[in-house]
Amino acid sequence: MWLLLSIFLCAPFFLNGSEIKKPLCEVIQVDSKNNSDMLLPLAIITDMDSKTKQKDSWYSTLRYGALAFSQNRTASFIHWLGGVNITSNFNFNQKSMEMSDLKIFNNRLLSVDDKIGVVYWLRNGTAIPWVISSTGNGSSSSPFKGEWMTIRNNKLYLGSSGHELRTFTGEYLNDDEMYIRVISGNGGMRVEDWISRFVKLRRAVGISFPGYMIHEAVHWSDVHKKWFFLPRYASKEPYNAATAYETGVNMLLSTSDCFCDTKVVYIGKHKPQRGFSAFQFIPGTNDEIIVALKTSEVPADPTKPFVNKIFSTWITIFKIDGTVILEDQALEDGVKYEGIEFANVFQCL
Ligand SMILES: *[C@@H]1O[C@H](CO)[C@@H](O)[C@H](O)[C@H]1NC(C)=O
Ligand SMILES: *[C@@H]1O[C@H](CO)[C@@H](O)[C@H](O)[C@H]1NC(C)=O
Ligand SMILES: *[C@@H]1O[C@H](CO)[C@@H](O)[C@H](O)[C@H]1NC(C)=O
Ligand SMILES: *[C@@H]1O[C@H](CO)[C@@H](O)[C@H](O)[C@H]1NC(C)=O
Ligand SMILES: *[C@@H]1O[C@H](CO)[C@@H](O)[C@H](O)[C@H]1NC(C)=O
Repeated sequence: MWLLLSIFLCAPFFLNGSEIKKPLCEVIQVDSKNNSDMLLPLAIITDMDSKTKQKDSWYSTLRYGALAFSQNRTASFIHWLGGVNITSNFNFNQKSMEMSDLKIFNNRLLSVDDKIGVVYWLRNGTAIPWVISSTGNGSSSSPFKGEWMTIRNNKLYLGSSGHELRTFTGEYLNDDEMYIRVISGNGGMRVEDWISRFVKLRRAVGISFPGYMIHEAVHWSDVHKKWFFLPRYASKEPYNAATAYETGVNMLLSTSDCFCDTKVVYIGKHKPQRGFSAFQFIPGTNDEIIVALKTSEVPADPTKPFVNKIFSTWITIFKIDGTVILEDQALEDGVKYEGIEFANVFQCL
């Protein structure tokens, strides 16, 4: 297994720089009838919030490794191999590189920033701005809060947190974060109003305004013809920025395009400080098995909820019926990872 792992992940690296052409950055394909052990290259990316600045630039760390799966798909482990810092000078109000998702689209590894509304093409240690978007319906001067990316009909769907924007004390401001963007391969962009979709989705679990459901992890499944949502936070109580960090949830919601047949499944034990920040369906599992990241941001002193937050991330694997395959495994480096993708970084970067 280990020999296979090193050959598998490192071969393109050794070829890089020689006369042999660098392989394409490709979506990992596994035949779902394949019943042998699986070893898949995996990458995750950080959103370190205000801790991203170093001298005159900003950075995000891409960690890479491999996910191994037993023949019977009941045992799995993840082995991390290394990291790469992606740096950029591109910023908005001194904020940058707060990466919130990772997705291969048209042979490019893309990431999105939740402060500056830019979708980047990650390449060779840098982040190349590809498309930039404003928040809301397209008439705002503020940047798009990009939280999730998924692919449907060869288009990149870029979404935000999917709830009403409020003040720190919970007063309604606007619906800007309930609009999404649909981006084509050449960078053309269309706005979609998802207000009624997000409202219907949370209503399926008995939540309505001033309660909330906040999203960072959303995918379309072509196999199931359904949208899947793993919310970060949700509560029937009114939003309060000082205590929202304790409203993490363990639900998986799925619905077809009408948002009229939402089903909910609970994943593992509910730990209120942990909520989902990203996921992917594992290749070769017919979109039956998910690998997901959970994060928490807990103030060191609860009487000062907005300063000195302690960040943590866990990785977990489960079936869409709720069966847990890999319990929350801590990443133990004190940062938040908000994007995950099956990508071979030696081919993609
Ligand atoms: C099954 O997957 C493994 C590992 O990804 C690969 O080496 C093998 O060739 C595949 N087998 C078939 C029959 O596709
Ligand atoms: C599945 O495979 C793993 C690893 O090979 C093994 O430990 C486990 O007992 C197997 N489970 C079943 C239900 O066969
Ligand atoms: C990324 O940069 C940080 C800050 O300079 C440093 O501590 C860390 O070791 C770097 N990580 C990698 C993988 O180079
Ligand atoms: C990658 O970056 C290094 C320096 O950071 C540069 O020397 C090299 O030319 C770049 N390679 C490509 C293919 O852009
Ligand atoms: C967007 O929303 C603003 C304010 O709510 C409204 O005035 C404007 O007409 C809308 N624009 C579009 C393109 O829908």
